[in-house]
Amino acid sequence: MTPHQIALNDGTQIPQIGFGVFLIPEEETQRAVELALEAGYRHIDTASIYGNEKGVARAITATGLPREDLYITTKLWNEDQGAATTRPALEASLERLGLDYVNLYLIHWPVPSRNLYRETWEVLEEAANDGLTRSIGVSNFLEEHLTALAAMGGRIPVLNQIEVHPTLPQHDLVATNTAMGIATEAWSPLGRGADLEMPEVTAIASHIGATPAQVILAWHLQRDRIVLPKSVTPERIQENLAAAEITLSPADLEALDDLDTGVRVGPDPATFIG
Ligand code: A2P
Repeated sequence: MTPHQIALNDGTQIPQIGFGVFLIPEEETQRAVELALEAGYRHIDTASIYGNEKGVARAITATGLPREDLYITTKLWNEDQGAATTRPALEASLERLGLDYVNLYLIHWPVPSRNLYRETWEVLEEAANDGLTRSIGVSNFLEEHLTALAAMGGRIPVLNQIEVHPTLPQHDLVATNTAMGIATEAWSPLGRGADLEMPEVTAIASHIGATPAQVILAWHLQRDRIVLPKSVTPERIQENLAAAEITLSPADLEALDDLDTGVRVGPDPATFIG
């Protein structure tokens, strides 16, 4: 199965389902990424802070897939932000990944208290112009950070990777992304697994004969978000990719839109410094 692709604002395309490797230890990463690639995933999302870029590299080498068939994202860690440190950090990620370019490079968190994300963005623009990354984007940016980047007059991020799941749908920030032409990519799309237990989710799952994870992932996909489900379990890795085959009714989509508790599973981007 070839995962569905969606168009980004710089003319590139991204597979809408990616495989996230956050919290997968380095020694397990090669096996998990190999399973994902064998199951049909072509989009892998890592970050320098995850400490597993070399495991991703080993899986890519072991499966022997052509580079042009893969979509690889990594991220700049917070302490590497800044005019002098950003490009060496990207080059070090490329070295660990065994690649001469990534498809997407993201600023991992805005860290507004350090106020370096704008000069960092200029380095990402240069890196994209020099071919070290095809696309550039951000992660965990709030509206004020996106607006500040747009005011610089250069590139607009292709996407904003943020925490989104049924109990934290982030309707306002998603609407801001959309209005600015920025795609929304959901991290912890299952609420780190916790949202799978929501009675509304399990009811829809038994009604349509899908699993709770597939219901949540189908909701993201039909709402035009890119999703990065993480699993180290072979059956779940396949099950999550097969969510693309499921179509939810408008009533089910609206029911899932309505489960906001405002509770994050991850840090608050306004204050997180890493
Ligand atoms: P595991 O890795 O042990 O398979 P999120 O992507 O929202 O952060 O959620 C990740 C968590 O959800 C992990 O604990 C993962 O467990 C679990 N998970 C991933 N896919 C599924 C699935 N299809 N069914 C149940 N749990 C899942």
